[in-house]
Amino acid sequence: MTLAEVLKGATAYLTSRGVESPRLDAELLLSRTLGLSRIELYTQHDRPLTDAERAAARELVQRRGRREPLAYVLGDWDFRRLTLKTDARALVPRPETEIVVERCLALIDGVSSPRVVDVGTGSGAIALAIAHECPAARVHATDISPLALELARENADAHGLAVELVEGDLLAGLEGPFDLVVSNPPYVEASELSALAPEVRDWEPRGALVDDGQTERLAHAAQQALEGWLVLEVHEARAKIVSQALEGAGYTSVAVVNDLTGRERVVEARWGTTHATG
Ligand SMILES: C[S@@+](CC[C@H](N)C(=O)[O-])C[C@H]1O[C@@H](n2cnc3c(N)ncnc32)[C@H](O)[C@@H]1O
Repeated sequence: MTLAEVLKGATAYLTSRGVESPRLDAELLLSRTLGLSRIELYTQHDRPLTDAERAAARELVQRRGRREPLAYVLGDWDFRRLTLKTDARALVPRPETEIVVERCLALIDGVSSPRVVDVGTGSGAIALAIAHECPAARVHATDISPLALELARENADAHGLAVELVEGDLLAGLEGPFDLVVSNPPYVEASELSALAPEVRDWEPRGALVDDGQTERLAHAAQQALEGWLVLEVHEARAKIVSQALEGAGYTSVAVVNDLTGRERVVEARWGTTHATG
C-alpha cells in the first residue's frame, strides 16, 4: 500500500468515527509515524509503507478513532512558544489560554522581578509559558492533582524552566505577596458535561473540567496573597457574572478580555496597592 492509499483509508476511518477534522488528523498521525512533514506526505505520496510502518500508523489512527484527543495520541502539543508533553494526566492546553498568558505578560511588564503563581497548572502550560517569555519572573504553580503536577514537572525539566510546583488546594502552602495570580480553573457545569465532545468528556480529567466553586474560592483566597493582578480564564457565558463578583468583593480595574473570535474568555482585576502597572 502506498502512503496516499493509507492516508485515504485513515481519513475514511476517522470520518466514520465522527472525528471533526479527519483529513488533518490523519495527516498529523501519519507524519508523526513516518517522521515526515505534512508536505512530504504529498511529495512522497506513492512511497510504499513497510508492514511495521503500517502497523504503527494503524495503532495511532485506531486510538484517535476511539476519540482519544489528538494531543494525547501524538503525545505533545504546541502552546505559545513551547511544545509540551500531553497525556491523560492533564487537560490539553487550549488556544484561548494563550490569550490568558498574553494578558499576564502585559500586566507584569515593567515589574522588575514579578512573583507569579499559576493555580491549577495542569500540564504546566501557563506557568511555563510565563517563565519562558518573562525570564525575570519567579513562577510558582499549584495543582490539586498529583498526576498533573508530575506532568508539569516533566515539562519544566524538558524545557529547563525553573517553576516551583506545589501540590494542594488553590493557594494552600504558598505565601504572598504575588504580583500576579493566574488561573484557568475548571469551569464546566456538571450538567453540561454530557453535551461535550467525547474527546473532552471521556478522556480529559474530570477534576480539570467540572466547576466545583474554584473560581469563587480563588477570588477570595487570592485577596490574602495578592498585591497585583488576578487573571482568570472563564466560561464565555460567565464573564459578566465573574466580573461582578470580583467588583463586589472589592477588586478594582475589573475588565473582560475577548478571545480572537470575540468571545469573553478572560477576566482580570486588581487587588492591593501594587507596583504592577498593566
Ligand atoms: C481547566 S484545567 C487547566 C490546566 C492548565 N492550567 C491549562 O490551562 O491548560 C484546571 C486544573 O486545575 C486543577 N484543579 C482543580 N481544582 C483545584 C484546586 N482546588 N486547587 C488546585 N488545582 C485545582 C485541575 O487538577 C486541573 O489541572
